Amino acid sequence: MWVPRLLRTIKQHTQFTRQISARIVNGTNIEVQPEDGKPEKLIFPSVWLRDNCLCDECFHGSSKSRKLDWDNFDTRIKPVDLVADGKEKQVVVRWSDHHESRFTLEWLKDRSFQKEKQEEYLREFYRPETQHWSGKQFQDIARHFNYEEVMSQDSTLMQWLQSLAVHGVALLRNAPLDEGVVRRLAERVGFIRRTTYGEEFVVQAKPGAQNFAYLSLPLPLHTDLPYYEYKPSVNILHCVVQTDSPGGSNMLVDGFHIADILRRDYPEDFERLSRVIVDWNDIGSEDGRKFHNIWRAPVICLDAEGRYTRVNHSVPQRDSHFNVPLAEVLPWYESYARFVRLAIADSHAFKTQPGDVLTFNNIRLLHGRTGYDDSEISPRYIVGAYLDWDIIYSRLRVLKNKIQRKPQ
Ligand code: OGA
Ligand code: ZN
Ligand code: ZN
Repeated sequence: MWVPRLLRTIKQHTQFTRQISARIVNGTNIEVQPEDGKPEKLIFPSVWLRDNCLCDECFHGSSKSRKLDWDNFDTRIKPVDLVADGKEKQVVVRWSDHHESRFTLEWLKDRSFQKEKQEEYLREFYRPETQHWSGKQFQDIARHFNYEEVMSQDSTLMQWLQSLAVHGVALLRNAPLDEGVVRRLAERVGFIRRTTYGEEFVVQAKPGAQNFAYLSLPLPLHTDLPYYEYKPSVNILHCVVQTDSPGGSNMLVDGFHIADILRRDYPEDFERLSRVIVDWNDIGSEDGRKFHNIWRAPVICLDAEGRYTRVNHSVPQRDSHFNVPLAEVLPWYESYARFVRLAIADSHAFKTQPGDVLTFNNIRLLHGRTGYDDSEISPRYIVGAYLDWDIIYSRLRVLKNKIQRKPQ
């Protein structure tokens, strides 16, 4: 089929409308020049444009979903005619299947294939880029927000969630001292992530505890619930009563920072901890129901591009089943011991006060608690709940769309 290389352009000469132009390049790409005289050129593959046609036949507007007949989709589709309409600021494409599509310049710009634009979109809108920190930097990176402001103002809610995404930790202050705070806060974002231990949970010393945390002993650094494939993402710990005894402080470490140190200074340990699969488990019963949770994953989990996806560490919840070749065992223990030593050396301790709500990323940070003297005159009462990242990121994007008018 004959495909004209340069097609019609509707010229607009008023001072209010800028001329845009569009042409077909290599028979398959469409090049759009948003403004005459400016070097910016956007290139879009035809297959992608046809796939993303926005007409009523191809796209369901109210659900913002593609409804094009993909069973009969032609990946070799060709544009046969092109109109750059400067007045409407849109490009109209007629296709070899006799279909017609129109795309506004704004829509096209938001979906630019330029690498920098794509990186900006991923960093600003998909998921904020994380900034890793050492224990010494804790005071500089930790942001504080007023609980009531988070509850009532969308911009503060957005800032809290953004900090949580970037630094992995943020503190809310001046929350009321009732047990409903964690639920109200979670519902301000989305909804609580339920676990074996319920929705809200109380951390206090309990006789005959089913969970190691429910003792007044020190809690060594750990991540919660490593024995779940879908590990709850963010811990919310509301301090209702804090012990007067010297202990009861929280400790935090950025697990991604520890992984950075290993990657740089101890590459063999890093390789082992990111490759050897560990069994994590939790056995017990809650509300009369028995459970036996197991998930197998390395201490440092990476994606295909070597980025951290998750850190797992919990001494009580590491299974005695260790399903690895014999020769891996001792070297793995050595590497793990190095990881733990580095984490302890870097940990930052602080004591929350009644009304503080500590929120942190359970996928990334290790946390712990110093032991305390639990007695009737010095009790400690923490109410906790979890949120999941899918729900948090979604809320953050909705807020950014509303407050910063980010793209749809
Ligand atoms: C836990 C925990 C922290 C605290 O229960 O897993 O980390 O402050 N608790 O008691
Ligand atoms: Zn269409
Ligand atoms: Zn914990």
